[in-house]
Amino acid sequence: ASRRPLIAGNWKMNAGGQDACPLSAAVAKATRELTRAEVVVAPPFTAIAAVAHELAEAKSEVGIAAQNMSAEVSGAFTGEISSGMLKDAGATWVILGHSERRQLFAETDESVARKVASAMAAELRPIVCVGETLEQREAGDTLAVVERQVRAVLDELAKQPGFGVIAYEPVWAIGTGKVARAEDAQEVHAFIRGLLAKASEDLAGVTRILYGGSVKADNAEALLAQDDIDGALVGGASLDAAGFAKIVEAAH
Ligand code: G3H
Repeated sequence: ASRRPLIAGNWKMNAGGQDACPLSAAVAKATRELTRAEVVVAPPFTAIAAVAHELAEAKSEVGIAAQNMSAEVSGAFTGEISSGMLKDAGATWVILGHSERRQLFAETDESVARKVASAMAAELRPIVCVGETLEQREAGDTLAVVERQVRAVLDELAKQPGFGVIAYEPVWAIGTGKVARAEDAQEVHAFIRGLLAKASEDLAGVTRILYGGSVKADNAEALLAQDDIDGALVGGASLDAAGFAKIVEAAH
């Protein structure tokens, strides 16, 4: 496909302290020659500024994503972080609606949609996560769930085709070592692209749809070879720079 692959490493609540700069520097070094894919790392909030400094010093093209943000711009929202703060710290991307946020922190399609709108208004690129739980898959509800989640953000994404990214992450494949079969993932990715096409053909053509859920160096190639899989959102395997670089290499 003509879409440039995107490999994003979601560090989750790891590598936020002393480890953040060395890890980002190692990722920058290990992926420097791998220019076909775009590479992004998502450190915890508190490490974003330090990682941004580290990557700038290294003259690296690696981008930075936050893992969440408030839909509000400023004000009395104790403990929240705004889009402007993330940009000031050096992030240009933000992961929104991750299943851990939906499941553990009560995020809904509505709140995720508000965050996507807020991110786009601030010119912060959203990586919107969707995906079914094991229970939903077993009940045959996969496509209905994904459709509901994608439809919630469709109008926003259509305002600026290609600016935002979707990540399909079957919840049962996250952190479990159980990766979706490449053909099964492809089927859902193609379905998502079909939903995007309902907004516009342009949106469907340029939007990158990442796969996430137990992506590792040894399964990345089969996934990334699928027509509608344009990259990966990597959790556990992104904490090791060499292994992460192998996933980036698989996108070449
Ligand atoms: O955001 C990343 C996903 O939740 C995947 O995590 O690669 O550890 O399964 P994982």
